Amino acid sequence: MKFFIDTANVDEIRKANDMGVISGVTTNPSLIAKEHKDYAKTLAEIASIVDGPISGEVKATTTDAETMVKEGEAIYALDPKHMVVKIPMTVEGLKAIKALSAKGIPTNCTLIFSANQALLAARAGAAYVSPFLGRLDDISQPGIDLVRTISEIFANYPDIHTQIIAASVRNPIHITECALAGADIATVPYKVIEQMTRHPLTDQGIEKFKADYTAVFGA
Ligand code: E4P
Repeated sequence: MKFFIDTANVDEIRKANDMGVISGVTTNPSLIAKEHKDYAKTLAEIASIVDGPISGEVKATTTDAETMVKEGEAIYALDPKHMVVKIPMTVEGLKAIKALSAKGIPTNCTLIFSANQALLAARAGAAYVSPFLGRLDDISQPGIDLVRTISEIFANYPDIHTQIIAASVRNPIHITECALAGADIATVPYKVIEQMTRHPLTDQGIEKFKADYTAVFGA
């Protein structure tokens, strides 16, 4: 399983990129709005930092396929080597995914909450589907079951090349579960990437090495 970072904050993106662990970035309208910066310029800046797929979503106010395709083309044009157009899972969204993929523009179908939605997005030609674990957990449905089910279904059909991005990840336990469930990618907030690096025994071990070393060799 690969890691993407799920943020539009360029400081966090730089820090995670410097760690050497991320292969891409996902954003959404809420994440970009949080930064209070220009929408397109933020995406272009992110694409200049990370050499991997960068998901930029069509405007939250757009609902028809034709406009989604136009916006998707503009997002892709920001950096055709990196940009992936994120499209919400609706009937119009599916039409836009079909049209964009026919033009060779990769798409990430977002707001996936059922296996059938994932299957439809894959058949429309989405390069990625994003099942939202945390938001399902929030309504007392185990989000990880959805990731596992999509993974099993896609494995039944070798002609499906759509990758599963486990999204709405909230904690390190989600990460281990996603890897076991067969997600291709987990898109992870910076805070959770940091949490994944930590273990109290690692901290204790470092302190002990330091104490033993300085006792004999000095500082
Ligand atoms: C994924 O692509 C979304 O941007 C994100 O994971 C949503 O996470 P949230 O449910 O924590 O807002």
